[in-house]
Order: sequence, then structure tokens, then C-alpha cells
Amino acid sequence: MPLDDATIPPNAHARLVNPRANGGLTVLRRGYSYDQGTGADGRADVGLLLLLYQRDPRRQFIPLQRHLAQHDALSRFLRRSLAASSPSHPERSPGMPSLTTSPPPVDVTERARA
Ligand code: HEM
Repeated sequence: MPLDDATIPPNAHARLVNPRANGGLTVLRRGYSYDQGTGADGRADVGLLLLLYQRDPRRQFIPLQRHLAQHDALSRFLRRSLAASSPSHPERSPGMPSLTTSPPPVDVTERARA
């Protein structure tokens, strides 16, 4: 996505995660938005299930997420519910955390309503 320096603020999500702001770092993304109406707590039950595909989360996801955690204007509107990683080719990713070694999966819907 091209960046318009005159109109996009420095703490905008799209600017912070752009490869230009991260030494050329890229990931493949697939997002699934969901809207389940109003939850039991009366708040909107909406969100984004975001899948990121990459060779090495330590070199890609973690620096990106750190950058977002420090500066992203979007963050104050978000509650993160689950993060997990799983190597698609475990034999090519020695030492990479997988779902079997990460904390057990969380029921995202229940957590968001808590
Ligand atoms: C609820 C959470 C999030 C929302 C609503 C969100 C939304 C967006 C939107 C609207 C865009 C620009 C349009 C597009 O290219 O699709 C974008 C781009 C992007 N986001 Fe997110 N995002 C979220 C979380 C994340 C996280 C956690 C990461 C990575 C750690 C991430 C990485 C990226 C990247 C890499 C781009 C493309 C930047 C570019 O190529 O210029 N996003 N996001």
C-alpha cells in the first residue's frame, strides 16, 4: 500500500506496519472480520481474526507487533484474545514454537466477553 506522507499520521497502523517503516520486513496476511452482534455484557462482539504467514515469527511477527504495541493509534480500541503459531514445515523450522508447545488455545468468544 503506498503511503501518503502528508495525510497519514506517524502513529497510524498502516504506516507503522508498512515495509518501509520496518526495514523491508513483510508478512502474508489474511483477515476475517466478524460481527456477532451484541455480547452478554452489552458490548459489540466484533473483531478480526488475522492470520499471518511468515518464515520466522521471531524475525517478522515479533518486531512488527512490538512496533505496534509501542505506537499504534489503533491499539486503544483493541483487545487481543489469542496468539499462536504453528510451523507448516516443522522439519524446516527447528526451535520454532508450535501449537503443541504454546499455551493451550483459548475460546476467543468467551475471552472477549469476559
Ligand atoms: C484488530 C487488529 C487489526 C486491524 C483492525 C488491522 C487493520 C488493518 C488495515 C485496515 C490495514 C490496511 C488495509 C490493508 O492493507 O489490509 C492493515 C494493514 C496491515 N496490517 Fe493490520 N490490522 C490489525 C492487526 C495487525 C497486526 C497484529 C499486525 C502484525 C503484527 C498487522 C499487520 C499489518 C500489515 C503488515 C499490513 C500491511 C501494511 C502494508 O503493506 O502497507 N495488522 N491492517
